[in-house]
Amino acid sequence: MSTTVPPADSVLAGGEGIGEQAWIEVIQKMDEVYNDLLQYEVALEQKNAALEESHQFIESVLASMSDILIVCDRNGNIEEVNSSLCHFAGKEASALEHTPVFNLFADDIERAKAREVFARFGREGVHDCEFYLRGGDGSTVPVSMNCTPRVSQTGKLMGMVVTGRPVGELRRAYQALRQAHDDLKRTQGQLLHAEKMVSLGRLVAGVAHELNNPISFVLGNVLSLKRYAQRLETYLGAAQAIDDPALQALRGELRIDRVIADMPLLIDGMIEGAERTRDIVDALKRFSAVDKMTPEQVSLNEVVERSVRWVVQSASAKFAVEVDLVPDMVCSGSSGQLQQVVMNLVQNACDATLSQPEARLRVTGRIEDGTAVLRFADNGPGISEDYLSRLFEPFFTTKPVGQGTGLGLSISYGIVERHGGKLSAANLPAGGAEFTLALPVASH
Ligand SMILES: Nc1ncnc2c1ncn2[C@@H]1O[C@H](COP(=O)(O)OP(=O)(O)OP(=O)(O)O)[C@@H](O)[C@H]1O
Ligand SMILES: [Mg+2]
Repeated sequence: MSTTVPPADSVLAGGEGIGEQAWIEVIQKMDEVYNDLLQYEVALEQKNAALEESHQFIESVLASMSDILIVCDRNGNIEEVNSSLCHFAGKEASALEHTPVFNLFADDIERAKAREVFARFGREGVHDCEFYLRGGDGSTVPVSMNCTPRVSQTGKLMGMVVTGRPVGELRRAYQALRQAHDDLKRTQGQLLHAEKMVSLGRLVAGVAHELNNPISFVLGNVLSLKRYAQRLETYLGAAQAIDDPALQALRGELRIDRVIADMPLLIDGMIEGAERTRDIVDALKRFSAVDKMTPEQVSLNEVVERSVRWVVQSASAKFAVEVDLVPDMVCSGSSGQLQQVVMNLVQNACDATLSQPEARLRVTGRIEDGTAVLRFADNGPGISEDYLSRLFEPFFTTKPVGQGTGLGLSISYGIVERHGGKLSAANLPAGGAEFTLALPVASH
């Protein structure tokens, strides 16, 4: 650096006493000060560059944060936001700054909730609290929010830092996952059920086949026995007229008169038992598709109306059935077998609603995607969860002995399967059971 030395006489008035040496020292000092100044400037520039760099770093971190970030003052006014929030709210940062943070919430209820939570827990911080915010497109979006207090070096509360993560997407994904899981579980349940019914069908077909012959000849023989018994009775009546004391004594000893009196009752009992067994075997055969059918066009409207009429005729007066079917519901199959299915469903509803003050059954019929869907909804007690999976098993009944064989639904299940349809049971949300009978519509 070059310095100009002023002439000694122009620096101080009356500059005598200050020699040239003094001037040189002054100049040297000035040089040192100038050098120091230069170094300070360089250091300052370096610090400035470092500051600028760290500022850019923070800016880039904030800009690439996917979570929203809001810095508020003590009164809840926004001081700074990151680009995620601008994007979320559909506004520029300048339009958001200095506005109340509570304006971001979806409605007055959410605002009141947020005010309360922030006021109560603001000092300790709020963690993962869910609020609804208003998105830029006007939609309300659930956001999981965290809030931490911002304090000065002296410990004074300066405001708060709020971060949040929109959870709508996450929740939708979770719901989709849950739905897929439920569907999978239901399908697995249906598969298991179908498998169980197939093996039951095979087992029952085997039992029915094995019982069919013995019961036929028991019934045939017992009917012959009844005819023989009548002949024997006539013969013994005639033998009584023979005046032979030994024969009379033997007759008394063997209590032949009592045997003759009991025999018709015993034989009738045997016939009744054998007939009941034959009916059960027939029912088992129907469940397991041993009997074959020749398909015909069946009007489901007629089947339902006939079944309802027959059951209602023999039911108590308070059983009210409402039928609401679209016209011309036609499917292909056996009208007798389908009638048996519908009658059992109506009869079951009648039995289930027996203790209701107003027993009601509503039968609706609609065509849905080429399928005739009949729904039987009653106002009975519904079906307990434990029983829902067992309803279609042969001999499953909750009715007292002698009042139900537990074959109704299992036979119906078999019949409906053979018609290419589906029979299912569920409980109604408002109470009562609903059976759904779905059959493919006949192509004309
Ligand atoms: N609408 C219904 N509400 C409540 N439970 C029902 C209903 N329908 C059927 N159930 C239950 O399902 C069981 C089985 O019915 P299913 O028709 O197979 O046999 P059942 O009616 O007991 O006897 P069956 O029909 O042979 O006379 C019934 O005992 C009952 O517990
Ligand atoms: Mg029944």
